[in-house]
Amino acid sequence: MPRKPFIAGNWKMHNTIEQTKTLAAAVKAAANPNNAEVMIAPVFTALSAAAQALKGSDIILSAQDCFFEEKGAFTSQISAGQVKDAGCTHVILGHSERRALFGDSDEIINKKIKAAVKQGLKVVFCIGETLAEREENRTMTVLTRQIEAGLDGLSKEDLKDLIVAYEPVWAIGTGKTATPAMAQETHCQIRALLSAKFTAPFAGAVRILYGGSVKADNVDALMAQADIDGVLVGGQSLEAQNFARIIGYQK
Ligand code: 13P
Repeated sequence: MPRKPFIAGNWKMHNTIEQTKTLAAAVKAAANPNNAEVMIAPVFTALSAAAQALKGSDIILSAQDCFFEEKGAFTSQISAGQVKDAGCTHVILGHSERRALFGDSDEIINKKIKAAVKQGLKVVFCIGETLAEREENRTMTVLTRQIEAGLDGLSKEDLKDLIVAYEPVWAIGTGKTATPAMAQETHCQIRALLSAKFTAPFAGAVRILYGGSVKADNVDALMAQADIDGVLVGGQSLEAQNFARIIGYQK
């Protein structure tokens, strides 16, 4: 079975509620010639408004994170259930900015994935190495650790809707993209890791997205790679026209 392409915009800490509604409406209006699943991840405060704006469309709404506890005295945190209540079906977990800036360890990410799965949320699980790790030839060691620890204790049934996003940290927001060949090689290795940890059919069905400086003029070459099933876009997903061009990538 071919894997359905998946094009996602991570809006990070951008946009007011009004701006979110406008941009969501533009994404809703964009042509989708590849019949891709399209996802947007606005800030928490704009999720409900985005859910309203997306009504009547197939655009997927995602949060950018959630906490692992269900409720309680956890000032500032938002649970998986609350993310769902705001209208999300998906949640991004393990983003490198969460890992690097907010202390999300593999163990914390694992707890968050379990909490999300328990609520029936679909997880976009981000992994990726830093520049130093790549230069020291430790890319596969790091990705293996992130997958093993991040998905520890979860069965392939728990993870039937899993989406993996490979985002080399050195390519995020830097304008440096992994070459399509480099990304393809790593995606293929990630699929092999998933095959060894779960099963070959499981690994064959999981969508693996590439993220890191994806833009209108490199998306076609990335999407032409056999193991790149989609993209997770930061900066360029904030510009309606650019994101529309990315959604309409040409193979
Ligand atoms: P950029 O597309 O801005 O490099 O961000 C990538 C990213 O982190 C998406 O989650």
